[in-house]
Order: sequence, then C-alpha cells, then structure tokens
Amino acid sequence: MLLQDKVALVTGGGAGIGEATALMFHREGAAVVVADINGEAAAAVAQRINADGGRALAVAVNVAEEGQVAAMVQRAVDAFGRLDCASNNAAASGGFAPLQDVENKNWQRAQDVTLKGVWLCMKYQIPVMLQQGGGAIVNIASLSGIRGEALQSPYSAAKGGVIALTKTAAAENAQHNLRINAVAPGGIRTAGMEYYFNSVPGAREKTEGVHAMRRLGEPREVADAVVYLLSDRASFITGHVLNVDGGITINPHTL
Ligand SMILES: NC(=O)c1ccc[n+]([C@@H]2O[C@H](COP(=O)([O-])OP(=O)(O)OC[C@H]3O[C@@H](n4cnc5c(N)ncnc54)[C@H](O)[C@@H]3O)[C@@H](O)[C@H]2O)c1
Repeated sequence: MLLQDKVALVTGGGAGIGEATALMFHREGAAVVVADINGEAAAAVAQRINADGGRALAVAVNVAEEGQVAAMVQRAVDAFGRLDCASNNAAASGGFAPLQDVENKNWQRAQDVTLKGVWLCMKYQIPVMLQQGGGAIVNIASLSGIRGEALQSPYSAAKGGVIALTKTAAAENAQHNLRINAVAPGGIRTAGMEYYFNSVPGAREKTEGVHAMRRLGEPREVADAVVYLLSDRASFITGHVLNVDGGITINPHTL
C-alpha cells in the first residue's frame, strides 16, 4: 500500500475528486481527514471509511477562512498525532461569462476559495510537516490554469495562481524533505462538471471533444495521480504539475 500508516488530509473531500481521493487514501493504508464546507458530505465519506475498518475524521471547513483552516489542521494533528500528506482540492468557480461581464463578487469568490484557500491550507500544513521532519502536498490545479479557458477568467486565473504557488512552495521546502506538487485535471465526470454542462449550452459535447481520448476522466483517475505524487514512489519529484487530462494538450487532428 502506497500510504501505509500515513495521515492524509483532503479538502473538498465530500464529493467528486476529493471524495475519490479520500477513499483511495483509505485503500492505500492512510488515516484520513475528510474536510469540506459541506460537513454532512464530509461526515458521510468518513463514515464509509470507518465502516470499512479505516480511520477517518470529518472536518467542516471553509478553506477561504484562515481561522477555520488553522483549526482543521489542528484537529487532524489532535486526532492522529501528525500530518504526512495533504491534497488541497477544494475550489470554487467564478461563474461562466466573458471577462468584461464578470461581476466583482464572482471574481472574488474564485480567488478566495480556489487560490487563497490553497495558500491558507499550505500556510498551516507546512509548519506541521517541517516540525515532524517532512511530508508531501498535492494541490489540485486545472488545465484551465495552464492554457486558459474561455468564459472562465476568474477560475483560470486562480488555477494559474495555484500552479505558481505550488512551485514557489516547492522551492522553499525542497531541502526539508517536503515535496509539493500539483495535479492538473482535464474534464472529470463530477457534479461540478455537470453544473458547468448545465450552465453553458453545448459544453458537454465540446468538452468531451477536446480530449484526445474523446471522453471525460473519472475522479478515481485523478486520485491515482494524487496518491502517487504523495507517496514515496515520487520521492525525487517536487514542483511538478502532472496533467491528468486524456491528452487535452496534444493535437488529435492532422493539420
Ligand atoms: N471536475 C473537473 O472536470 C475538474 C477539472 C479540472 C480541475 N478540477 C478541480 O478538481 C477539484 C475538485 O473538483 P470536483 O469537480 O471534484 O468538484 P465538486 O464540485 O464535485 O466537489 C467540490 C467539493 O469541494 C467542496 N467545497 C467547495 N467550496 C469549499 C470551501 N470553500 N471549503 C471547503 N470545501 C469546499 C464542496 O462542498 C464539494 O464537496 C477542484 O479544485 C476543481 O477545480 C476539476
């Protein structure tokens, strides 16, 4: 098992990619902290893990609120004694509109949850990991943060920020046995993606079509990459952005 006896935390762990990650943390031998703004969803995932003989703690947290993030990390340490791995996965969309029509509150929501949330999580995770002699963090970015995405300027900008933040944090901690990487998913079959498909006409067909594999990914396929990067199998990898995207960036056509 890749995370045997580790303590692993995931934000946004109540649904989608975060839920799949929490369940895979458990299957790979970790004690799991399932953190989500939706406390009931987090509790349901933790309950499934505990019912399966695992060790899981649910924490209700808004990652955009510093005091709540500090309390989340403290609760993890209080419950399990340490924090070895974290996947900072919670994010919020800023809606779907041309840049010039984006409302200030939508811009701000994407920055607060998607970008500042990742910064706050690392701000409180890193000192714990440094104090115990090391750890690993995987932040969830997006292909939108690499190649941009029409109608999603707040989200794309925030995800581009997550990538820069990941590399900066990796540089600051590379000599301290603390590896920090990012995973950039393409289109993954989750409720968040369903919301997008229902908000933008034609989005489903277009989204499937841009993947060279001509399909969406499954949450489990992202969780696999997260677990790999958090595990000792990735011991010489830091500051890396791993695309899990069914070949979005390769050209499936002959030009
Ligand atoms: N689904 C995709 O196609 C896709 C593509 C690229 C990147 N991503 C990224 O993957 C991650 C997970 O996406 P998903 O599709 O599984 O999302 P989702 O909407 O299915 O689930 C997100 C979870 O995060 C929680 N959450 C939302 N705001 C929060 C906050 N402020 N604090 C704590 N928890 C909060 C929600 O309650 C929910 O349980 C996100 O970072 C997203 O940007 C997803």
